[in-house]
Amino acid sequence: MKKGYFITVEGLDGSGKSTQMDLITRYLKERGRKVIVSLEPGGTSIADRIRDLLLDPQCSDMDVRTELFLYLASRAQHTSRLIIPALNRGMDVICSRYYDATIAYQGYARGLDRDFIKNANDFATYGLHPDLTIIIDIEPRQGISQAHTTKKKHNVKGKGDRMEQESLDFYRTVRKGYQAIASREKHRVKLVPFRKGAENLFHDIQKVLDEFFRNKEEPPL
Ligand SMILES: Nc1ncnc2c1ncn2[C@@H]1O[C@H](COP(=O)(O)OP(=O)(O)O)[C@@H](O)[C@H]1O
Ligand SMILES: [Mg+2]
Repeated sequence: MKKGYFITVEGLDGSGKSTQMDLITRYLKERGRKVIVSLEPGGTSIADRIRDLLLDPQCSDMDVRTELFLYLASRAQHTSRLIIPALNRGMDVICSRYYDATIAYQGYARGLDRDFIKNANDFATYGLHPDLTIIIDIEPRQGISQAHTTKKKHNVKGKGDRMEQESLDFYRTVRKGYQAIASREKHRVKLVPFRKGAENLFHDIQKVLDEFFRNKEEPPL
């Protein structure tokens, strides 16, 4: 029986997901909850090896369907071995990117059949759905520039990973995809406009979290 909450954070690269995940973790821990933080693709040793393939710039010749199945393979491993067992132990899981990313990137931006992806997602996740999804909505140019800043901070050279080598138009379509998901699934998905300053942005995200917990039958642990 699933006891913890499953919260996913979505948005373009550089939108501030990692930064907000830290603040969301702090919020949950202050409420006495036990939290596991994870990310996709990856999250377990097998999934991390799939991640390496997906992000390797040397794999530039990857077919879009190969890409889709690798994301799904990573997700199946991550969900079955890490996420579901943690939720069953009563831990909350916060994950950077989950199945909405596949709809936005491989569905909207790569143009693969979205109904097929939805079914494949359900299969890969064993039917698990996030209780809450926060999408950070950022203008792609700004996202790219911030992702670049992260690289500089970590002294990473080169043109970025395979997914980061896409065009501005590609990211515009990903963004539209995320916006479409948010307008279709208003109950689960909350679109939060990017704001400069991590604490400013978190101010808006905290409102979403407060609202989420207000609507729970059981109060936070
Ligand atoms: N709200 C914000 N305002 C200004 N800069 C931010 C904000 N959030 C994150 N950053 C910076 O932008 C870069 C990308 O943030 P990060 O959290 O790594 O994004 P993501 O995980 O979505 O790629 C980092 O250098 C981070 O310090
Ligand atoms: Mg990140």
